[in-house]
Amino acid sequence: MDKLIIEGKSTLKGQVKISGSKNSALPILAATLLTEETCILANVPRLRDTDTMCKLLISLGKDVERVKDKVVIRQNKKLNYIADYDLVSTMRGSFCVLGPLLAKLNKVKVSMPGGCVIGIRPVDLHLKGIKALGAKVAIENGYVIAKCKRLKGTSLYLGGVFGSSVLATANIMMAATLAEGETIIESAACEPEIKDLAGFLKSMGAKIKGAGSPQIIIKGVSSLKGSKYKIIPDRIEAGTFMLMAAATKSSIAINGACLEHLMALVDKLNEAGVSIVKEGRSLRVKPARHIKAVSITTHPYPGFPTDLQAQFLSFMSLAKGISIITDKVYPDRFIHIAELNRMGANIRREGINAISEGGRVLFGAPVMASDLRASAALVIAGLAAEGKTEIHRIYHLERGYEDLDRKLALLGAKVCRAKE
Ligand code: EPZ
Repeated sequence: MDKLIIEGKSTLKGQVKISGSKNSALPILAATLLTEETCILANVPRLRDTDTMCKLLISLGKDVERVKDKVVIRQNKKLNYIADYDLVSTMRGSFCVLGPLLAKLNKVKVSMPGGCVIGIRPVDLHLKGIKALGAKVAIENGYVIAKCKRLKGTSLYLGGVFGSSVLATANIMMAATLAEGETIIESAACEPEIKDLAGFLKSMGAKIKGAGSPQIIIKGVSSLKGSKYKIIPDRIEAGTFMLMAAATKSSIAINGACLEHLMALVDKLNEAGVSIVKEGRSLRVKPARHIKAVSITTHPYPGFPTDLQAQFLSFMSLAKGISIITDKVYPDRFIHIAELNRMGANIRREGINAISEGGRVLFGAPVMASDLRASAALVIAGLAAEGKTEIHRIYHLERGYEDLDRKLALLGAKVCRAKE
C-alpha cells in the first residue's frame, strides 16, 4: 500500500484540470447493460471505482476497453444476471446494476452492498422502487434476487427518511426505460449526476422528462441503442480543490468545472471570505485574508453536498471562531474528526453536530485515511499544516480522485507518494 507525504505549509499556484465525474460515470457505465450495442463514453475518470465497475461489467458479459480517456463497451455474448459479492462488496456504486439487469433480463441477483464508515446505507428505496414496477423480490444469503415478466410502469414516491436517494433514483429510472408504459418518480434525486444519466439514456433512445427535478417521467420503450456520450465534470473534485486553495490562502484557476453545480459551496465560501470568479472557462479562487467561521448543514442537491462536508470542516478548523457542521444526509459522517484533532484542530461532536473552535495552527502528523472524502479532508489539513503529514492507506483517495498527487505537484504543493 502507498502513503502520501505532504510538506506543509503549501501555497498553491497555477491551474488544475477537473476530471470526469465519478458519480456520473458509475451509473452511466451500468446503463450500458440496457443495450447490446456498442457504447463509447468520454471523460471517464481513471479511478479504482470506475475500474471496479468495468470489471463488474466484464463479469456480466460485456467487453470493456479503455482507449485514452474513453471507455468502449461492447457485447458479444449473453449477459449474466448475477453480480457477485466480491465486486459489489468493494463498491456500493455497483448496486446500480440492479435496475438495468432487471429491465434487460427480467431477472437479477445482486449482492447487497454492505454499510461503510459513513453510515448504514440501506437499499430499501431501491427495493421499494423495483417492487412498484412489478418485480418479485427476495433476499437470500446476502443477495437481492428479483424477477419479473416485464416491468410495468407506475407512479411511485421514492423519498426516504433522509430525503431523496441518488442511486435509488438512478436504478428506478434505468429500469423504467424498458418497462411497459409510463413511470412517474416523485421525490427523485435532483443531483447533476442524475441529469447526466438521463442525458445518456435519452441518447440511447429513452424517453425521459424532468431529470434534475423532483419529478421524473419515463415512457418505456422496447429497446435502447448504443450511443456516444461525454461525462460531466466532477463537482466534488472541483469543490475539493476550491477548499484546498481556500485553506492554503492560494489563488488558483480551476479548469473544466461547472460553476452552477457548486452554488451551495460557493455561497458558503463567500460567507467565509473566499470568492470564486469566472475567468473565461476557468474558475478563479480568490482566498480570504482572514477566514471567517461559517456553519453548514448538508442536504440533497441543490443543498450543500455531504461529499464536501469533511473537506469543509477541515477548512473551518483554520477559521477563528465557532463553526457548526451538521450532516442531514449521513448524520454520522464524522470519522475525519479524530484525525483532524490529532493535527491540532479543536472539533467535538455534540449530538448530530460537529463543533469546530478554529483559528489554531495545524501541525503535520502521521494520519490514517478511512473513507474517500475523509481522506480528502486530511489532504487539505496537511497542505495547510506546519510540517510533514503522512497519510496512510491512500487507496481510499484513489477511489475517487484521479492523479491527485500529480495534480497537487503541478499546483506547486510539496507532495510525494511512497511505499508504506
Ligand atoms: C450517492 O450515494 C453517492 N455515490 C455518494 O457519494 C453520496 O454521498 C450520496 O449519493 C449522497 O449524495 C454515488 O453516486 C456512487 P443516497 P447513494 O442513496 O446513492 C439513505 C462519494 O463519496 N438511503 O443518495 O448510495 C442513505 O442512507 C459517495 O462519492 C436510504 O435510507 O446515496 C443516506 O442517508 C459517498 N435508503 C441518504 O438516503 C435507500 O434505499 C442518501 O443516500 C437509499 C439511501
